[in-house]
Amino acid sequence: MDLSYIKITDCLCRYKNYNFGIGLTTPEHIDSLQSFEIRDSDVLLVTYPKSGTIWTQQIIISICESAGGLHEYPNYLEQMPWLEYTEGRGDYALRPSPRLFSSHLTPALLPPGLKAKKAKIIYVTRNPKDNIVSYFHFSGNSGDLETPKSFEDFFEQYVTGNVGASSWFDHIRDWHSKRDQYNILFLSYEDMILRLNSLGVLYVSPFQDLKEAVTKICHFLGKNLSDAAVEQVVEKSTFKTMKKDVKANYEFLPEEKVKKDFMRKGKIGDWKNTLTEAQSQRVDQLLHETLGEMSLKFIWE
Ligand code: A3P
Repeated sequence: MDLSYIKITDCLCRYKNYNFGIGLTTPEHIDSLQSFEIRDSDVLLVTYPKSGTIWTQQIIISICESAGGLHEYPNYLEQMPWLEYTEGRGDYALRPSPRLFSSHLTPALLPPGLKAKKAKIIYVTRNPKDNIVSYFHFSGNSGDLETPKSFEDFFEQYVTGNVGASSWFDHIRDWHSKRDQYNILFLSYEDMILRLNSLGVLYVSPFQDLKEAVTKICHFLGKNLSDAAVEQVVEKSTFKTMKKDVKANYEFLPEEKVKKDFMRKGKIGDWKNTLTEAQSQRVDQLLHETLGEMSLKFIWE
C-alpha cells in the first residue's frame, strides 16, 4: 500500500492509496480516524460517490426522527456528516447518541472500532455505468472537483481509478470482501427502484416503491415503525419530494460548492444515452476481472 501523500491535480490528491479532493481533508485528519472512538449506537452510511448517498441519508434520518430521540442539526451535512471531511467539522466525541455518519472511505481508512460489530454500517452501491454518468455531471457542477474535458476523458479517469474515492471496482471489492468483519447491510440504488414481478421479470416500480428498502433499513437499525410511519418515510424520500426539500437535496450549500442540484435525474439505465458500446463492454470486463471471483449478484444484472 502506498502511504505517501501525492498531489495528482489541482483538485485531487492521493493518500494511503485513496484519492481525496484537495481542501476537503488532510492526511493528519485521515490518520486521526484510526483513534476515533466508535459507539455501539453509531450508524454509518458508506457509499462510493454518486451512488444514492443523500437519498439514503434522507431515509435513515427520517426513520431515526420518526423513532424519536434524534438530536436535530440545522442541515443534513451536520446531521449526518462525512467522517473524512474537515470542513464544518464539530467535535463528534461530544455528540449525543445516536450519532449518524456518512463516508466514502474504504475499510482500512475508517475507525477500527467499527469492527467491534455493534455499530451499524449501511453500504449502498449503484450500477457503475449509471454511476459514471452521474459522477461526470456532478464533476462539472462541483466547485471541489475538476470539470471534465469530455465524457471520454472522464470515462478513462473513472475506469483507471483516477477520480475522488479512487476506483469504484476496488471500493466494492474491498467492502464485500470484508463484510464478515462488520455489522453491515448491503443495498443498491436499484434495490430502491426495481421490483421483480410474479414471472421473475424486473420492472421499474411506478411509485418508486421504496417501502421494501425502507422496511429493510428499519429492521437493520432495530427501529419498529408503524406502517403509517414507514409510509411517511417513503413519501419524504421520493425523488419528487426530495427535489423540493432544501435540507435533503443539499440546496443549502453555496453555489461555489455545487452549481446545480444533487437531484439530477434519479433514473436507472440512463447510461445507455451516454456510454458507447465499447465503453459499456469495458465496464463489463472490469466487473468480471475485479468482482468475478466473488460471485456477487447485483439486481441490475
Ligand atoms: P443522477 O445524477 O443519476 O440523477 P449521491 O447522493 O451519492 O451524490 O448520488 C446522487 C444521485 O442520486 C443522483 O443521480 C441523484 O439524482 C440521485 N438521487 C438522489 N435522491 C434520489 C431519490 N430520492 N430517488 C432517486 N434518485 C435519487
